[in-house]
Amino acid sequence: TWTPDSFVETTVLALKEKLGDDRVILGLSGGVDSSVAAMLLHKAIGKNLHCIFVNNGLLRKNEFHDVLEQYEGMGLNVKGVDASARFLDELAGESDPEKKRKIIGRVFIEVFDDEAHLVENAKWLAQGTIYPDVIESVSVTGGPSATIKSHHNVGGLPDFMKLKVVEPLKMLFKDEVRRVGASMDMEKSILGRHPFPGPGLAIRILGDITAEKVRILQEVDAVFINGLKEWGLYDKVWQAGAMLLPVNSVGVMGDERTYEKCVALRAVESTDGMTADWVNLPYEFLQKTSNEIINKVRGVNRVVYDISSKPPATIEWE
Ligand code: XMP
Repeated sequence: TWTPDSFVETTVLALKEKLGDDRVILGLSGGVDSSVAAMLLHKAIGKNLHCIFVNNGLLRKNEFHDVLEQYEGMGLNVKGVDASARFLDELAGESDPEKKRKIIGRVFIEVFDDEAHLVENAKWLAQGTIYPDVIESVSVTGGPSATIKSHHNVGGLPDFMKLKVVEPLKMLFKDEVRRVGASMDMEKSILGRHPFPGPGLAIRILGDITAEKVRILQEVDAVFINGLKEWGLYDKVWQAGAMLLPVNSVGVMGDERTYEKCVALRAVESTDGMTADWVNLPYEFLQKTSNEIINKVRGVNRVVYDISSKPPATIEWE
């Protein structure tokens, strides 16, 4: 019978055999799959695993710094690459959702390719592909592997695509990946993380993207997500996040009239992201969260809660 412990044992042995003294490159996203894949490879080949974690400037508040520190704490050979400015620059003025996705996919590959070249004699590209990614043409799990797959046909193959591919989680479902991670003593804060789209906050900022809009949404998202954790709701929700709407509305603050941004909070239950129901969060929680967002986050004077299910609404607003 399959157990996480036996999976780790046999997979690490098989990886050792297969990879020998070869160098392997892996793109970390902060998500569960790439993190567990990295840990298995780390156990098998140690420093010959070269992880690359790209900050596209569209991650959650403090995520790049915090997750990088966590990875280093796990002993991984990881390089953080802050390409925020480059992504924001290339996205400037673009408000079409699909074009935003394409730009992010392309720039990610360019940044990753540059970094991969710095690792001499690399022979393999490791990916955190899991079984549902294999059977679906489009991955819904987010992260570099999804980004690479959906955009690798744009403008010819980058050099790192010539590497041989190793995918240690290819036969596993998400819950099995989490159990494998747990059996390697990985932290719950990584294993229990909500899915997060590869294009990040870019597809939660409706319309064009600016550094100021990213800042606002990061603050809002942090209040919401930290609140869910404090109230013990985070693990009961499959995915949650906030959307910054391209709408200003009138408000009042003290004696002043305000004309500021509106944000929508979204929390859904789902098993695979293909269908989803909005979550009946407690009114007291919504009330407290709304007050905190409006009081703390400069530039926002209205909060709404998204009560649409998928289908017909999607989880992300873009
Ligand atoms: P939708 O919005 O299509 O989202 O209901 C379903 C799941 O997929 C994630 N998602 C993406 N992940 N790149 C990704 O890596 C994308 O472009 C993308 N769009 C949506 C979304 O967060 C949800 O978990």
